[in-house]
Amino acid sequence: MTVITFANTKGGAGKTTAAVLFTSELLHRGYRVCILDADPQRWLARWVEQMGGLPGLSVDSYITAATLQRTVAEKRKMFEYVVVDMPGIQSSLLASAVGFSNHVIVPIQGSQMDAQGGAQVLDLIRYLDRSAGISVPHSVLLSRVNPCVTTRSMQVVKKLLADQSIRVLNTPIVERSAYREMFDFHCLLRRLDPQKVSNLDKAIENASRYAEEIMALAPASQRLEPALMQSRRMPGLEIAA
Ligand SMILES: Nc1ncnc2c1ncn2[C@@H]1O[C@H](COP(=O)(O)OP(=O)(O)OP(=O)(O)O)[C@@H](O)[C@H]1O
Ligand SMILES: [Mg+2]
Repeated sequence: MTVITFANTKGGAGKTTAAVLFTSELLHRGYRVCILDADPQRWLARWVEQMGGLPGLSVDSYITAATLQRTVAEKRKMFEYVVVDMPGIQSSLLASAVGFSNHVIVPIQGSQMDAQGGAQVLDLIRYLDRSAGISVPHSVLLSRVNPCVTTRSMQVVKKLLADQSIRVLNTPIVERSAYREMFDFHCLLRRLDPQKVSNLDKAIENASRYAEEIMALAPASQRLEPALMQSRRMPGLEIAA
């Protein structure tokens, strides 16, 4: 089981959209996925409920640091991926969720490179590495990128982050109406009607490339090294958040 956490302590950075697109593409490829909706607003859990559930998908909400550990242990054998959608606030759960993750995705809006919420998550990951020797693989995802943005300006942004040794996914998530409409119509991206949704083919291609990139970085059913798992069960981690 591979745990992927979407985190940015700033609201509206595109976490839930990125988590839904990743989950949709995993289900499309036949993986079994468990979503941990850590946002008390339960946007993601409600979206799945409104669809009447989906085969291969389970959703747990009202996640706390204690239930996170238990849930991850329980779901280990049943799912290839666990997707954690964090709330857009500072929360005591952040350090635990990050500590339990095989990979953390930090969505940052391409136009707001000063995004402090993303920086807070990246700072926490650095802190865990420095103070506890817990190295959590992570990547910044440029979200809601204007489709007209030039490749050159994207390269500048990537270089800025690369200079700080921060990996940026090659595939940004472009601003597309399809990504809003899957919430409005309560359905998966690939089930939207191409007659009614503009540029659906481009939206699907973007989602597919983005998900493939994360799957390559964090393949299905990745294990945490037992020793690392042990060191990640540090009660003090919650204080660090
Ligand atoms: N790539 C995109 N294209 C179009 N709309 C988008 C895109 N990404 C996000 N949005 C819209 O922006 C809003 C905020 O996105 P989202 O809910 O994914 O952010 P979030 O980080 O999960 O927010 P919160 O911190 O409140 O949970 C939503 O209305 C969503 O539909
Ligand atoms: Mg959200």
